[in-house]
Amino acid sequence: MPVRLFVGALFGDEGKGKIAAFSAFDEKPFYLVRTGAINAGHTVVHMGKEYKLRALPSGLVTFREGKGATAPGALISIEVLKREVQTLGLSKEQVLVDERTGIITEEHVERERQDQHLAKKIGSTLTGVGMAMVDRVMRRLKLARDYKDEIERFATVADVTSLVHEAVDSYKVVHVEGTQGFGLSLFHGTYPYVTSRDVTASALLSEVGLSPFDVEDVILVTKAFVTRVGAGPLKGELSEEEAKERGLVEYGTVTGRLRRAAPLEENLDLLRRAIRVNGATKLAVTKVDVLFPKAKGVTRWSDLPTEAKVWLSDLEKEVGVPICYVGTGPEALETVKAC
Ligand code: GTP
Ligand code: IMP
Ligand code: MG
Repeated sequence: MPVRLFVGALFGDEGKGKIAAFSAFDEKPFYLVRTGAINAGHTVVHMGKEYKLRALPSGLVTFREGKGATAPGALISIEVLKREVQTLGLSKEQVLVDERTGIITEEHVERERQDQHLAKKIGSTLTGVGMAMVDRVMRRLKLARDYKDEIERFATVADVTSLVHEAVDSYKVVHVEGTQGFGLSLFHGTYPYVTSRDVTASALLSEVGLSPFDVEDVILVTKAFVTRVGAGPLKGELSEEEAKERGLVEYGTVTGRLRRAAPLEENLDLLRRAIRVNGATKLAVTKVDVLFPKAKGVTRWSDLPTEAKVWLSDLEKEVGVPICYVGTGPEALETVKAC
């Protein structure tokens, strides 16, 4: 069962990109598959350089020889994909676009901008994802196979599902990277303040075309505190002042909007439910350096400050899943691997 899934526990921006990048460096998977859509920006810092990826898997930043793929259930924009392939300097053979990956165009973005419900009430990222999903449900969305000539100038259009099956059937490790977080799931989140798809482990499998029996690990990524961009409930929400005082101020990767913040302790019910629904086998806790500055850059559990170790052990007892990864800085390798 060589498949590992990376999913978010909260309202997105937990640092799935960073943890996926660390794990790709660590495990050198045969395929790295990105699910979801370009509303999700994954930030990876590696060797002092920052990358923001919206279409390609984050592991390609730390594992440049890897093969990246987009899932049949993913929605991408050709422009965004092309830019990322160029930024990472990847060869055409390394970038596989499933022939059924959906294509978002300017027209989808325009339709979202004009939609008051999405723009004003939901606080959508307005990247065209919801409208492309509407078109897919209506069976009029164009897929990668319809843009084959254009895409094949810089990537390879392929049957990613079959390729992944071949790899899995010969016990090669495959990483599947999810987007957003449990609280933003169309089915399980704080509807209607959610994104336009389910983002749980089962949804990732469905998007790629894998079976639950293929899965070895579900790595659920949570931050040491909770943030949310856009509208919707947030338990224990701090005022902007309080968030600033505690150093919890962040801005969205795609939209640049200020992220609302709350303590994780007030949101353990959300975390527990995310664990149950996703079937999390391992937890990753990022931004521990923000709560405990002495943890900054630490890569061994024994080097973490005592307060951080106590806080993490208490959290582990509260939720009953081992904390296997601890994020101690934005750099992909600023990570403690504890199990
Ligand atoms: P979405 O799919 O959009 O939800 O993205 P994501 O989960 O990949 O998270 P995103 O990259 O949008 O946001 C996480 C932010 O935290 C980025 O700016 C990362 O560089 C940063 N980050 C991730 N892990 C750590 C960490 O352990 N410490 C610090 N200080 N920053 C981190
Ligand atoms: P949409 O999916 O772009 O329509 O946005 C719907 C809601 O999900 C809004 O509250 C967005 O801010 C939020 N959202 C969508 N994608 C992300 C993400 O990648 N990170 C964080 N929030 C997101
Ligand atoms: Mg993000």
